[in-house]
Amino acid sequence: MTMQLPPDISLVSELHAIEAELAAATNATALEAWRVKYLGRRGRLSQLTQQLGSLSLEQRRAFGPLVNDAKRTLEDLFAAAQRALQEPKAARESAAHHLDVTLPGKPVTLGRLHPITQTVREICAAFQGMGFDVAEGPEVEWERYNFDLLNIPRDHPARDMWDTLWINWTDPNEEGRRMLLRTHTSPMQGRIMEQAKPPIRVVVPGKVFRHEATDARHEWHFFQVEGLAVDRGITFADLKGTLYEFARRIFGADRRVRFRCDYFPFVEPGVEMAIDCFLCKGEGCSLCGDGWIEIMGAGMVHPNVFSAVGYDPEEYTGFAFGIGAERVAMLKHGIDDIRRFYANDLRFLRQF
Ligand code: PHE
Repeated sequence: MTMQLPPDISLVSELHAIEAELAAATNATALEAWRVKYLGRRGRLSQLTQQLGSLSLEQRRAFGPLVNDAKRTLEDLFAAAQRALQEPKAARESAAHHLDVTLPGKPVTLGRLHPITQTVREICAAFQGMGFDVAEGPEVEWERYNFDLLNIPRDHPARDMWDTLWINWTDPNEEGRRMLLRTHTSPMQGRIMEQAKPPIRVVVPGKVFRHEATDARHEWHFFQVEGLAVDRGITFADLKGTLYEFARRIFGADRRVRFRCDYFPFVEPGVEMAIDCFLCKGEGCSLCGDGWIEIMGAGMVHPNVFSAVGYDPEEYTGFAFGIGAERVAMLKHGIDDIRRFYANDLRFLRQF
């Protein structure tokens, strides 16, 4: 029996050529073109399948399985080609994520605390070790806390001690209640005493602002650490003892400390405390003038301040102090100009 192959059935015998065509399809577009040409809906294989219908039963029996085999073979070949095309991409991707553990590491630059932050924390820690709490308050403050409650009435000449940066805002509910950038941390004295009853032992670190020209010892904004101790029977000896101990903890035992009378409206008597200059060791130089650097104001809380917050000045006494954190940092580290702290020069800041 001779069988006449319908022309397209020759595809089965063309398999090698078709395979070679597939091998030449090295990108997705070529591969897709190949798929459409042979396996597509109107591709060679489906044409072939349709042509089977016009064959005799005998011919169909003979060629049907051949066509099926050819189809399976082409499908397998196509799937393999598709995988091969994707593989290099996968390999490339994994190479990109490949970690070469033999490469030298990149140095990690660590940030650090600003020297003033460090100093403020050291000052607070010195007082915490003596039983003081730490509290913080607002930098934008009411005139009432910054001045009125501290025995500095409006129009009192003592206000000139603090050149004030005013905020353009007054409380509409309270006639003439003005806002400012706090000129010292002392407003927290009133805020704390309004809310708590003695005994009080607290330090208040924070930023303060003054409308002032800058020089080697003055900045227009700087940090203070306020201190307040209120109880029955607190004396000036407690003030001196506490502050000597503070100086010893921060500067060491061999630093000299000097107390002198000073005036602040919210203390009586008032003092300033100075430490001998690190540059000239108390001889006198262009930084300090007379050999001493003042680091804080202090004194016994004025009875008027107690009365203003509702404490009985006959029953309670206390002391307060306000430490200039930059001055302490200058003394500790031998810095000759306060403005260096805020010049953002990393060569300076990295040394701490
Ligand atoms: N608040 C004062 C100042 O900034 C310092 C001070 C605080 C003085 C507490 C006495 C008592 O100058």
